[in-house]
Amino acid sequence: MNIVIVGTQWGDEGKGKVIDILSEKVDYIVRYQGGSNAGHTVVAEGKEYIFHLIPSGILHKGKVCCIGNGVVIDPSMLIKEIKGLSSAGINISGRLKISPLAHVILPYHKILDELREGKRANKIGTTKRGIGPCYSDKINRCGIRMIDLLSPSVFKGKLKDNLKEKNEIFKKVYGHAGFVFSDIYKEYLNYGRFLRSYLFNVTYLLNKAIDDKKDILFEGAQGTFLDIDFGTYPFVTSSSATSGGACTGTGISPVKIDKIIGVAKAYSTRVGEGPFPTEFDDAFAQFMRNKGHEFGATTGRPRRCGWFDSVMVREAILLNGISQLAIMKMDILDGLKNIKMCTGYRYKGKIFRQLPYDAQVLSGARPVYQNMPGWSQNTSRVRRYKDLPVNAKSYLSRLEDSLKVRISMISVGSSRKDTIFI
Ligand code: IMP
Repeated sequence: MNIVIVGTQWGDEGKGKVIDILSEKVDYIVRYQGGSNAGHTVVAEGKEYIFHLIPSGILHKGKVCCIGNGVVIDPSMLIKEIKGLSSAGINISGRLKISPLAHVILPYHKILDELREGKRANKIGTTKRGIGPCYSDKINRCGIRMIDLLSPSVFKGKLKDNLKEKNEIFKKVYGHAGFVFSDIYKEYLNYGRFLRSYLFNVTYLLNKAIDDKKDILFEGAQGTFLDIDFGTYPFVTSSSATSGGACTGTGISPVKIDKIIGVAKAYSTRVGEGPFPTEFDDAFAQFMRNKGHEFGATTGRPRRCGWFDSVMVREAILLNGISQLAIMKMDILDGLKNIKMCTGYRYKGKIFRQLPYDAQVLSGARPVYQNMPGWSQNTSRVRRYKDLPVNAKSYLSRLEDSLKVRISMISVGSSRKDTIFI
């Protein structure tokens, strides 16, 4: 079976844990979009691992992990992760396959990301990992791909062309000195040498795996509302974070995907700027942030926190074709007297039950809430649905009613064992 895992909010829903659990049951785990802006935290056998590029499934012996063509790769970060895994005693030999068609993040992408953010009146709050500028070059047809790093003459030509134009822009628009060809050239050819043995035709590998009836897990990074098309544009990332990205980002036909599983936090969080209708006030946000350890895995930035927004998650279910939902961090709601779920928005006297695509409307929208009583019991040791407090069960069934989707997994802690399967 070929399954896509997607975030239904703004990323950081806890996909890493779901992927880690499901990885045991599949043969291949594949990243299809984004880059080192992502950060999956996985706790396995008491040890915490943070992954930015390599699928977290690499922790499972014998599984093959792929980085698809839709991903943008910062080679220095990737090499650091590879070395980190080998020094933790995890053997990845023959188990990491990288598409030669994936685009490469270069030093000028990262600096441009930072300089552009500095100049914008409406900041996006990017991770400054060079993601937007790298995808821009891909679409502009001047990007450099992993395969180019293997050929000194091809790489030289492309890098020279890029620097000719970019150095002008750096100097004239940003007052930045620009980049020296030979520095980048040498550094990246070295990366190419290091990574050469991992490059593989991932598209063929996965299509063959499907023919051989193997199971594949496609892991989405970020979340639906950071998707370049369907997210809260322009406060989004630059890739297709919805399930469709799994096809364009790997070369697998949509008819080969069997199931889409959505992941949602029991409340909402967002890093960076942009509309967030159910956002808590400062004091409650701080309380929940500390309770839920809501700090970015990549940048360490404090995450903004709010109530569960069923309008958004319903939209995510539609956009992605989600048939099952995992609810994460349910235990973080323990001890709250009252819990709210957003069921619509009020804007200029009108009620919206569907997500308005106009960011202006979304920014000015006041949430319409359904109030529910909380529970005082600790749920972190609960392993069976029937043992959850009554009010926790009724919160979950209200979510199911409102979202019209089945909840199949509930997470009550960071370890694999802290999970309720339904
Ligand atoms: P970029 O992807 O670095 O360009 O950042 C664009 C927006 O997406 C910013 O609001 C980031 O905070 C957000 N973002 C990017 N990656 C992640 C992620 O993995 N989790 C949560 N937010 C992210």
